[in-house]
Amino acid sequence: MNIGVISDLHVDRHQTLKPNDYLTVLLNLINEKNIELLLIAGDISNSYKLTAQFINDIERESGKKVLFIPGNHDYWTTDNDASSVEILEFYMNMKQCLIGKPYVINGDWAIVGNTGWYDYTYADPKFSLEKIEKRKYYGATWQDKVKIDWSIEDRKLSMIAAQQTIKDIEQVKDKKVILMTHIVTHPKFAVPTPHRLFDYFNAFIGTSDFNRIYQNYNVQYSIMGHVHFRNAFNEQGVAYICPCLGYQREWRTAEIENEMRHALYQFAI
Ligand SMILES: [Fe+2]
Repeated sequence: MNIGVISDLHVDRHQTLKPNDYLTVLLNLINEKNIELLLIAGDISNSYKLTAQFINDIERESGKKVLFIPGNHDYWTTDNDASSVEILEFYMNMKQCLIGKPYVINGDWAIVGNTGWYDYTYADPKFSLEKIEKRKYYGATWQDKVKIDWSIEDRKLSMIAAQQTIKDIEQVKDKKVILMTHIVTHPKFAVPTPHRLFDYFNAFIGTSDFNRIYQNYNVQYSIMGHVHFRNAFNEQGVAYICPCLGYQREWRTAEIENEMRHALYQFAI
C-alpha cells in the first residue's frame, strides 16, 4: 500500500490562494503519486468547519481514504460557536479522525493517532515553570493561549494525550504501528537552539510523554507536524517523519506545487 503523509497545510493562511487551490494541488499529487491512503498530521486550518470540509473534500474528490488528527490550530475557537472541547468531540465523531479509533490496515499494520500536547520539556532549562506558564516572551504571545480554551493545564493535557494513545495502541499491539501526532515527540525536531525566541518557545513544540510508547510498542513510523520543518530520520528502528507544508512566508519558492511536492512524504508497506 502506497501511503502519503503531510502536515500543517494551513489552507486559510495564504495571501492570495484559497483552500480550494490547496485542494486542487493536493488532489493532483495524490493522483500523480498513486497514493492509496493519505495521512494528515494536523493544522489544516484555524476553523473546525473548514478543516472538516477540507478532509471531506479530499476524500470525496480523490476517492482515496484519508485519515487525520487535529493540530493545535484546528482546535482554535475562530468560528466562535464552539469551545475547544466541543471541537474535539466534533472531530472524534468524524470517521476520518484517528483519536480513540485506531485504523487497522491489515493483519500486519495499524495506524494510531493523537494530537499529543506539549509538556514544556523542550524549553531551555534556564526558564522557570512560572515563566513558561505565562506563554509570553519578548512581546510575543503563544497564540494557543488566547485561541484555545482547554480548562486543563498543558502538562496535564500532554499526559492525558499519551494515556489515550496508549489505550488506543493497546488495541493493536500485535501489529506494526504507524503513529501520528501533531505535537513533536522527538527532540531532534525541536527548533535548533540557541535561538533568540525558541529557547523559550520550544516549550510549546514537543513532549517527552510519548518516550515510553516507543520503548513498549512496535512503532515503525512516527509522523508529526507542528514545527514547520521538513525532515525525516531513522533511529532505533523507527522512521521519524515531519512532513510540514507550513506558512507561505516560510516557503523557499513562490509555487505551492513545488512546496507541497516537497512536503508530501511517501512510503509503502
Ligand atoms: Fe502548524
